[in-house]
Amino acid sequence: MDATPTFPQYTVPMALLPNKRVLLGVSGGIAAYKSPDLVRRLREAGAEVRVLMTRAAMEFVTPLTFQAVSGHPVYSELLDEKAEAGMGHIELARWADLVLVAPATADTLARLAQGRADDLLAAACLARRGILAVAPAMNQAMWENPATRGNLRALESAGVTILGPGHGSQACGDEGAGRMLEPAEIAQRAAALFETGGLAGRHVVITAGPTFEPIDPVRGLTNRSSGTMGFAIAEAAVEAGARVTLVSGPVALAAPQRVDCLVRVETAMQMRDAVMAHMPDCDVFIAVAAVADYRPARALPRKIKKDAEQLSLELVRNPDIVAEVAALPRRPFTVGFAAETDQLEQNAQAKLVAKGLDLICANPVGPDTGFGDGATSLLLIDAQGQHPLPLDSKPRLARALVDYLARRLHEKEDSAQDPRSAHRQ
Ligand code: CTP
Repeated sequence: MDATPTFPQYTVPMALLPNKRVLLGVSGGIAAYKSPDLVRRLREAGAEVRVLMTRAAMEFVTPLTFQAVSGHPVYSELLDEKAEAGMGHIELARWADLVLVAPATADTLARLAQGRADDLLAAACLARRGILAVAPAMNQAMWENPATRGNLRALESAGVTILGPGHGSQACGDEGAGRMLEPAEIAQRAAALFETGGLAGRHVVITAGPTFEPIDPVRGLTNRSSGTMGFAIAEAAVEAGARVTLVSGPVALAAPQRVDCLVRVETAMQMRDAVMAHMPDCDVFIAVAAVADYRPARALPRKIKKDAEQLSLELVRNPDIVAEVAALPRRPFTVGFAAETDQLEQNAQAKLVAKGLDLICANPVGPDTGFGDGATSLLLIDAQGQHPLPLDSKPRLARALVDYLARRLHEKEDSAQDPRSAHRQ
């Protein structure tokens, strides 16, 4: 007899929803008993989850259960002074990258298809900015009914993703289609909704964070870059199907999931060497790092003592990495950043031209924006003009930037292949 112990067969999802905000809407069907497990799966996959329940859902599972598994209070009332004083219903809908309704009853599907806004779940679906996906769960006769079919067609044509339902025996004793998909499958399919494929098969090299230029063994020159934006762009490029090499200066961030290669460097010279080593097969280069423009001419081998009344540091220019990449004979699609306190547009436009970039992302830096985890905005500038990305979280801006640059890359390649455009090259 085989003595090897056996374990239950279920797949634990890989962390495929890092930095994603999921608003889980639970409506009133018996399958609601599986939704706390779905919360757990989504969180295991890296998402932050907030739960919204209809009144009917509370007949099946208590809000306390969802509060315990999500780690946040549960939302249920549309007109609730306390809740509106915290995260109001519009804010909640906008907060979410994905609104996921699971289970979605026949009645909920009908209400969403009509665009109703008379309870919190319907209002949040209507006011959302991100993706909406529903996991239907109902009796098989309700599922087959032409009224439900019509509602599904209306939802699909409005861009709503329908996950399932599964087929099998039902709580009411019937057999057929209408079972909610299992939580692990919903979590995996929810993660797949973010996989855009816009950079499928491409090698993307990204620089991130500050550089650190040593003065002596204990001191150095650096800046306030946290690396958050570069890491978020690496994540977004992976989701878009790219093989990603991330070259990062010293940051306090964990390695992003599924990045092919993370090279940790300290100085601008090391960053340049690491970048150049990856250029031969690079398709897209995104320079997000705040590279020190100057470094001490000599890094002293011993700690400088406080002997002298005055001290001068001799600094020499560092190489401009993004400009060197843009000047390569076989250059990748090259994207730069311009973090500016003043004259954002003019400074960014000047850098786009001077460094020979395909695209520049102008990033306003103020007392509360620009560096760190907080929300910021970007103005994308290229030969076609300007494309503003309004104030938003860095992960969301990163995804919008990757979508935009993937479109521009494809347009550039199409026009290079078009013989009529040869004279324009
Ligand atoms: N950059 C680079 N290597 C450098 C300096 C900058 O690759 N040595 C890249 C940055 O990663 C960014 C872009 O160039 O994508 C603009 O960086 P920024 O520091 O704003 O521009 P500078 O050219 O350094 O100009 P200044 O500091 O005078 O604003």
